[in-house]
Amino acid sequence: MDLGIRGRKAIVCGASRGLGKACALRLAAEGVNLVLAARDAAALEACAAEIRAASEVDVRTVAVDLSMPRGRQDLLAACGDPDILVHNGAWPEENPDFRQWTHDDWVRALDAMMLSPVELITGVVDGMMARRFGRIIAVTSRFVKEPRMEHMLSVSPRLGLAGFMNGIGREGVRCNVTANAMLTGIFATETQIEFGRSLAQRSGRPFDEVWKERESTNCAGRFGQPEEFAALCAFLCSTHAGFITAQNILIDGGGYPGVF
Ligand SMILES: NC(=O)c1ccc[n+]([C@@H]2O[C@H](COP(=O)([O-])OP(=O)(O)OC[C@H]3O[C@@H](n4cnc5c(N)ncnc54)[C@H](OP(=O)(O)O)[C@@H]3O)[C@@H](O)[C@H]2O)c1
Repeated sequence: MDLGIRGRKAIVCGASRGLGKACALRLAAEGVNLVLAARDAAALEACAAEIRAASEVDVRTVAVDLSMPRGRQDLLAACGDPDILVHNGAWPEENPDFRQWTHDDWVRALDAMMLSPVELITGVVDGMMARRFGRIIAVTSRFVKEPRMEHMLSVSPRLGLAGFMNGIGREGVRCNVTANAMLTGIFATETQIEFGRSLAQRSGRPFDEVWKERESTNCAGRFGQPEEFAALCAFLCSTHAGFITAQNILIDGGGYPGVF
């Protein structure tokens, strides 16, 4: 299927590895020019080189910390008029005991997981509406639908973001600007594999055994592949998805047990 977005321009945040990189590769395969953002300039440039070798699209990199207002400003200054914004990034370090979360912990979490996407969206949405095309995606988490107390430091800002995205998604759709959040289940990214390795080390068991045991707890009997995530992201960015907006879309291999 031709997604109808050849020649469009996308900002992809957190693009140096994992789900963000997979989304960038997939959008490039659809002919979308890219501005890639993450903190580590070398990793970002390596990703850009890989995309340039595989496609004809224009790829630029902006090394910024998107949990800081200055990083968001720099990214918007480098690319103020995208047709597509994929916000993705922070993986919080969480102490599971909410009694120990400090004011600073909350401010950092809000900055990285709510204010970062809110400020980037605010910076690009008017241009998208004026040009009558825009696709905004925020990568969040399955825990938004199935919260657990120990994850509330990341879930709470992401729930706040879901509210903002809902407003933007309904405001923009009249001008063909959609906004949706993708709620990820577990995907086999480098970060997840690293987490599996640390679990294996702590339990003194082989990595393969721990990984397979964790995978077997999902209905699909496996974790998702980043390419599967990227395929959905690309479809939501396509011309075909103009009637899908203000949604929290779960992609988790049946992990969520509820009906709605
Ligand atoms: N993979 C899963 O199973 C899973 C499950 C649930 C939710 N999620 C969510 O999905 C998102 C992506 O997951 P992933 O596994 O692909 O993560 P990942 O492999 O850790 O990749 C995160 C990306 O974001 C960038 N990043 C992190 N903090 C940033 C910051 N402050 N400013 C700019 N860039 C930043 C990283 O590059 P730098 O470090 O160089 O900045 C990297 O490119 C995360 O938000 C995660 O919470 C993932």
